[in-house]
Amino acid sequence: MAKINKLRETWKTRTGIILAVAGSAVGLGNFLRFPVQAAQNGGGAFMIPYFISFLLLGIPLMWIEWTAGRFGGGFGHGTAPGIFQSMWQKNRFIKYFGVIGIFGPVLIFMYYTYVESWLLGYAFFSITGRYAQATTQPAMQSFLQGYQGLQTNEYFHGIGWAYLFFIITFSLNVFVIYYGIRRGIEKLCNWAMPILLICGIILAVRVLSLGIPNLLRPDWNLVNGLGFLWNPNFAALKSAKVWLAAAGQIFFTLSVGIGVILTYASYLTKKDDVALSGLTAAATNEFAEVILGASIVIPAAFVFFGPREIVNIAQSGAFNLGFVTMPLIFQRIPLGAIFAFLWFTLLFLAGVTSSVSLAQPVISFLEDEFDITRKKSATIFGVVTFILCQPAIFFLGKGVLNELDFWGGTFCLVLFATVETIVFAWIFGIDRAWKEIHHGADIVIPKFYKFIIKYITPLFLLFILGFWIVKEGLPMIAMKNVTSEQYPYVLFIRGLMLIIFIVLAMSVAYAWKKRKILIRKEK
Ligand code: PFF
Repeated sequence: MAKINKLRETWKTRTGIILAVAGSAVGLGNFLRFPVQAAQNGGGAFMIPYFISFLLLGIPLMWIEWTAGRFGGGFGHGTAPGIFQSMWQKNRFIKYFGVIGIFGPVLIFMYYTYVESWLLGYAFFSITGRYAQATTQPAMQSFLQGYQGLQTNEYFHGIGWAYLFFIITFSLNVFVIYYGIRRGIEKLCNWAMPILLICGIILAVRVLSLGIPNLLRPDWNLVNGLGFLWNPNFAALKSAKVWLAAAGQIFFTLSVGIGVILTYASYLTKKDDVALSGLTAAATNEFAEVILGASIVIPAAFVFFGPREIVNIAQSGAFNLGFVTMPLIFQRIPLGAIFAFLWFTLLFLAGVTSSVSLAQPVISFLEDEFDITRKKSATIFGVVTFILCQPAIFFLGKGVLNELDFWGGTFCLVLFATVETIVFAWIFGIDRAWKEIHHGADIVIPKFYKFIIKYITPLFLLFILGFWIVKEGLPMIAMKNVTSEQYPYVLFIRGLMLIIFIVLAMSVAYAWKKRKILIRKEK
């Protein structure tokens, strides 16, 4: 922040930022995580808390982040430390809380990019026919584990292929952010999002026109497959576990509560609309999740494997539905290799448009608060995160990915969202906030949302946070599910996360100190 009020980049078009935010939101979460969460939490039982969380948490947080981001951008800040500070100028500590808005995205980036690279690998293998001989669940499972370097088998010796695709994917990410907002992220999303949506529609239509592949089981049909997800089950409303899973999915899928949308919105200008744009981005994500995402994996797995097996597969590992079940299904339909290619390409594009959004907060932080050029920032980011991605690659089987996902993809989200909402609605003040949302807005938001944002969203978040700490947080902190073999790796990754947090917090302290000196000099 050496120079105050320096010019920051802006989005070129309104469609550009909407597609970029939708690009961040639509990701592996929509097509891989959502079906697994739905299956693990009883299908129809999951959808009611899911929609309630969307209305009471998802949409309000979208508006909060768009509005707070644009507001902070007006002060030259693109990340949470500065944005929170500009909303609560008197508090000296809130900026340190804002560190989570850079830290969380980095943690997610550390594993998300690697998983994203598997999709590129699988897209390639789909057309080259490399997994064609693996025709059963155990064989396809071995193929996946061989690829991940978890076992040596007839398909793979070592992690070479996985590493190659990781390097390509990682370089692509750094390449995009190197070119900045307009020429990098906006351009990527402008072409990737339409392609991705078209692939999704083709796949959904293909799945929805499947007959009854298993003639011995006529009840494994499409209608029942859709019913698995859509027949509501009100009894599950009493289960705290289902509520936590549904709210967690809403955060993760919308990319809210972690700081990346704050950063994207900071590149808006004061006259840009946030109300309709935020809603459009959220709606696009929900279309991709509950219309496309929900029409592909679950119904397809249902007609081929039946309801019991879907739950078993989902329980057996987060990636099995996408990387084991889906390729097997494509093998059994005409032109399956092409559909498999479309499936993995769709996922890969969805992944890239999300991972670049995870990278951007660090870039903005370096640019805004340290006056480092974008290209230099991208280079620093590239070198540092390349190293930080290694544990997820080499210690994959040792609980490292789980740990990063837990802290980055769950804990930071809930905590950050809670504080962000309170700062916005109570410190900044709901009346000011409401005015700010409507500044330049193309719609008038129904008045009851003012009440929701002030009371319901924060209360809901506090409940979730409390429940979550007791139910999942404490057992996780106590390493209840960690085996003795995983123990040193988990400790190592926790130490690493702590170091990252401390370095970021110290950078914030340093930047603010420098700024103080500068302001004094300018006076
Ligand atoms: N929303 C992305 C998905 O559904 O895959 C994941 C994600 C991206 C989460 C960016 C958080 C984030 F900041």
